[in-house]
Amino acid sequence: MKSNLKNDVPLDLEKIPAHVAVIMDGNGRWAKKKLMNRVKGHEKGSQTVRTIVTASARLGINVLTLYAFSTENWGRPKAEVTALMMLLKKFIVSERDELQKNNIRLNIIGQKYRLPEDVQKEIDITLELTRNNTRMILNLALSYGSREEITSAVKNIAQKISSKALCVEDITQDLISDHLYTRGQPDPDLIIRTSGEYRLSNFLMWQAAYSEIFISDVLWPDFSEDVFIEILKDYQKRDRRFGKIECSISNDG
Ligand code: FPP
Repeated sequence: MKSNLKNDVPLDLEKIPAHVAVIMDGNGRWAKKKLMNRVKGHEKGSQTVRTIVTASARLGINVLTLYAFSTENWGRPKAEVTALMMLLKKFIVSERDELQKNNIRLNIIGQKYRLPEDVQKEIDITLELTRNNTRMILNLALSYGSREEITSAVKNIAQKISSKALCVEDITQDLISDHLYTRGQPDPDLIIRTSGEYRLSNFLMWQAAYSEIFISDVLWPDFSEDVFIEILKDYQKRDRRFGKIECSISNDG
């Protein structure tokens, strides 16, 4: 969980996690501390998004998932939702060329159909432009909620059973994974949450079964490439056993 970020060892580029997911939290508190409107926090947070996307591609991360707007966030004041949608549209348009230049494929996880039409239109252009890019997938979680994702997967599987395209015996963990928004992608190796909160907040709950979790006290607008690298170094020190024990012990036993 939370660790001391004083790692003297260098980052091992051979042991970069394949999939990093981030709960970007603390924009509002950042703004409040500076006596600013919450939207200013989201604006500064958008700049951090840009920094971390570029750094991730450079470091060799294959999949970066950013929790930008949850199904619950629709319940925020209308002005804040509108501002977030505007920022999102701005990001999708302004970063289009950069994503293309860096060979990054944009992917949306969540209820894209609930976003304003103009935002969906810009997203679709970027999705189409970047669809063959291979260096990194950038999953933007938009109107995303894990319970909604699992519910929709269950409905989809039930429909296939009712139309006899599948039978009950076909239901396996892999089949369920294949009906989630993240189908075909590795589960997150590392989930980072900023701003010191210890919650998963309806994020990737199926996929997080064996993810390492890191809680950073840094508020998202202040999150930097240096902090990110220290977290990756902390991850590299961890012993991931996936519920098993070391082979040498199990062989003896
Ligand atoms: C949580 O902070 C953050 C969000 C709900 C939105 C995240 C949005 C961005 C980082 C900017 C726009 C996104 C992109 C992809 C350009 P909070 O508002 O809950 O902060 P608080 O807990 O301090 O109030």
